[in-house]
Amino acid sequence: MRMVDLIEKKRDGEVLTKEEIKFIVQEYTSEKIPDYQMSALLMTIFYKDMTDEEITALTLAMADSGEKIDLSTIEGIKVDKHSTGGVGDTTTLVLAPLVASVGVPVAKMSGRGLGYTGGTLDKLESIPGFQIELSEQTFIEEVNKNKVAVIGQSGDLAPADKRLYALRDVTATVPSIPLIASSIMSKKIAAGADAIVLDVTTGEGAFMKNLADARRLSHTMVRIGELAELKTMAVISDMSQPLGQAIGNGLEVIEAIETLQGKGPDDLLEMCYALGSQMVVLGKKAETLEEARTLLEEAISSGAAFNTFKKMIKNQGGDETICTNPERLLTAQFEIELPAKTTGIVAKLVANEIGVAAMMLGAGRQTKEETIDHGVGLKLHKKVGDQVKKGESLATIYSNTEQVEEVKKKLYQNIRIEESADEPTLVHEIIIE
Ligand code: URA
Ligand code: CA
Repeated sequence: MRMVDLIEKKRDGEVLTKEEIKFIVQEYTSEKIPDYQMSALLMTIFYKDMTDEEITALTLAMADSGEKIDLSTIEGIKVDKHSTGGVGDTTTLVLAPLVASVGVPVAKMSGRGLGYTGGTLDKLESIPGFQIELSEQTFIEEVNKNKVAVIGQSGDLAPADKRLYALRDVTATVPSIPLIASSIMSKKIAAGADAIVLDVTTGEGAFMKNLADARRLSHTMVRIGELAELKTMAVISDMSQPLGQAIGNGLEVIEAIETLQGKGPDDLLEMCYALGSQMVVLGKKAETLEEARTLLEEAISSGAAFNTFKKMIKNQGGDETICTNPERLLTAQFEIELPAKTTGIVAKLVANEIGVAAMMLGAGRQTKEETIDHGVGLKLHKKVGDQVKKGESLATIYSNTEQVEEVKKKLYQNIRIEESADEPTLVHEIIIE
């Protein structure tokens, strides 16, 4: 087989076979196919799309490109959750202990943030001492003991995706549904869970800017999951405005603690119930979504979910006293308010731009090599649909510099106050096949 012939075949609208796709992934991972040929193929896929069979073959070949985690020694049905990315998306921090506290084992591998989207690992690392690197054996022991552990993705998990993602990033081929679906699902398959709930975000702060694309991505990933014998469900959720109030690493840990104590923002809690109910049903701890939700509500009100989070921090070397004194995570030197310039109703909070504002403060990184500041970020006091009076604070800026004029400007441009607002929808659709 020659790569140039395969590029030509795809370019001319033909369908690649399983063997051809396997060849491409293997040869590219072992650096026998150069980046320029792979770039040409990626751009061809971007324009010509792929069939379900092609996407599945690509996903499985990528999943097979490196190590596969064996979670079979963990008792119970292991349910994973994956979000396609968001701003202020504090879900995993709440969901992992919440679902674990009703008996569903959560062996979670998370990633770091890039650009305006945050990453669970960075958030957890704002907890003093917290270890995101555990050996596979310790990881499994923790999950058997406490039902939950959250760690960084092992370096050799789907290495084909690692190389491809870096190439897509610089060749304008990230927003392609077959490429996103195979990228996400290959890592999930290699990570060894039995079932998965996908949170497919849509809106300004997400890859999928509209509902039609989010729907197609969801169906594609659910079908790949079924073909790979991984029970898969998807929730299409709103990411036009940031989720919850906090955006920033330590601030989001505080938000997660409050949510686990039943005192968090309504939208974040609701999102956790929506995703969590699916995880509990997939984990066979409840028959119906309603029954699952009741279990989760009880786990919040009884303190069981909060205690599981505390234990998880302790087990992973972190200082669990931050759970009772979360204000210790407020390490930013300055807290600056953002007063509303007019009276009205908040009509829009442009998620990606507000994410960029948090990144400007140091909460996120532009390149993978940059370090981040765990103490900085934003806390939104108003969300879409809220009334606001002139002079009232729209948000608190947590900063380590007093020079926040640019950040303020960005926020004023992207928090729109008007006379009326459309009621935001949190969960657009649930897709099970
Ligand atoms: N997340 C991934 O892991 N891969 C993509 O391609 C897009 C989002
Ligand atoms: Ca948040």
